[in-house]
Amino acid sequence: MKKAMAWAWLLPLGLVFFASVAQAAVVEHTFNVGNLSISQLCQPARIITAVNGQLPGPTIEAREGDTVVVHLVNQSPYNMTIHWHGVFQRGSPWADGPSMVTQCPVQPGANYTYRFNVTDQEGTLWWHAHISFHRATVYGALLIRPRGGAAAYPFSPKPHREETVILGEWWNASVYDLERMAFLTGNPAGPADAYTINGKPGDSDNCSTANQTYTFRVRRNETYLLRIINAALNTPMFLKVANHSFTVVAADAAYTTPYETDVVVVAPGQTVDALMAAGSAAGRYYMEASPYDSAVGATPPFNPTTATAVVEYAGAPAGGEPAKPPRPPSNDTATAFRFLSNLIALVLPGKPTVPLAVDTRMFVTVGLGVSDCQPDQLFCNRSRTVFSSSMNNASFVLPALGKPSMLEAHYRNESADVYTRDFPDRPPLAFDYTADASNTATLQYTTKSTKVRTLRYNETVEMVLQNTRLIAKESHPMHLHGFNFFVLAQGFGNYDEAAAAPGFNLVNPQERNTVAVPTGGWAVIRFVANNPGMWFMHCHFDAHLDLGLGMVFEVQDGPTAETSVPPPPLDLPQC
Ligand code: C2O
Repeated sequence: MKKAMAWAWLLPLGLVFFASVAQAAVVEHTFNVGNLSISQLCQPARIITAVNGQLPGPTIEAREGDTVVVHLVNQSPYNMTIHWHGVFQRGSPWADGPSMVTQCPVQPGANYTYRFNVTDQEGTLWWHAHISFHRATVYGALLIRPRGGAAAYPFSPKPHREETVILGEWWNASVYDLERMAFLTGNPAGPADAYTINGKPGDSDNCSTANQTYTFRVRRNETYLLRIINAALNTPMFLKVANHSFTVVAADAAYTTPYETDVVVVAPGQTVDALMAAGSAAGRYYMEASPYDSAVGATPPFNPTTATAVVEYAGAPAGGEPAKPPRPPSNDTATAFRFLSNLIALVLPGKPTVPLAVDTRMFVTVGLGVSDCQPDQLFCNRSRTVFSSSMNNASFVLPALGKPSMLEAHYRNESADVYTRDFPDRPPLAFDYTADASNTATLQYTTKSTKVRTLRYNETVEMVLQNTRLIAKESHPMHLHGFNFFVLAQGFGNYDEAAAAPGFNLVNPQERNTVAVPTGGWAVIRFVANNPGMWFMHCHFDAHLDLGLGMVFEVQDGPTAETSVPPPPLDLPQC
């Protein structure tokens, strides 16, 4: 990462324009997943799993329409898969990556080649491991620039330079062990030991060694495009830079109407592209990523610390403390909601807009609950229930290792034993979803299942996502694989269609692949099921995904070969 950034720094702008005449290209990478020895937070060095010995892993840089080919070489001791978060994967559903949904994992010592096109989408996306908690250390950026190069950005001013800002979480323990113990005991995994910016926690925890703080070097009066990615496992973030403000121009690789703000809010799975003008006095300024803790009720343990990086101007006087931005309180739901609900799309000719006719309406509760221990939760106390989470009271479990993946079962027409087609369009019971008293409601209890909702090719779906107060209210970042969706409206409390529908944005709603459903509130989304395959929808908090906060859309084939699931690649890992 460091090397690549230093090189980009020297790249004359003229070269960028010259390259812009290039035709669709193949962008090829080899990802060696293996051990990296690293010391963080003044702890002794320890071994993590990382790609090509880098944290964050390598950045993939493509242009709209390019083909991306990544050879995954698994030299780690763990089963591995990689997901290309936000890539539509039209015609390449076998490359999507979630373990046991679209493929069986790549075993230690084995390889798999992911091959897909990045067509009809541009902006900031990312990639991450999609198995266990490995994405804590196996993640990186996936940037898709316009075919016409930087000159073709539909916003101005055009940035002089670009910087990737990846927010993460760091544990001093093995994240694999952490996930195993959480599963075996039925207890939720504990909070991270630190938050990070480009892999580094910074110096706010009094353990500053020079290489623990990321530095962005800027020149006065230049404009920077910050490509901000929240790769943290379980924590939405506020991002600020002292004495600087931002103009948001895209979110989740979909352009927005420019939006001025001095704080960016980004939930796990989301990205934000923001212009930042280096218009302050030549000096040093802290960039701070601080956590947003949306939980209300029985709240899990939470780490309130802040990750720091430094924005350093060329010619800044040496020494002295960088200026600090004011920090939003960690429970600042008003600021989070203002940012997340105010974004609207930049409507561009030829770009799809929100579908006005709806075929299928779903009302789906998302939240926590309890369930009995599963048989393989060996250290689970069988006399009590354990934390669980669900959508419409169905708590999702992946097919066991050894079964075919869901996409293979779908493709071979052998779903029996792997999944059932009875994911419900409504919760089993309507109740006061968000009242404090609903903590005792009967729907807290869930059972485990692998349910899908089958959709016809090209069916238009509207889904209301309703957060509940069961155990705790919380803002769940709900991510859909295989599609972008439009966010028509968001609010707090129980969804009331008669009150909400007149306020739907049917003109320029923001387009996303991950929506942070407001804590104790709701969001309304629409998408067109124009992509056959098996597409995971789940909370992008790994802790909640493991507890069952997910479901899968089974999208049937269309009328032609191009609109049907193709045969699996020959090297698809066997189960
Ligand atoms: Cu970024 Cu299913 O995840």
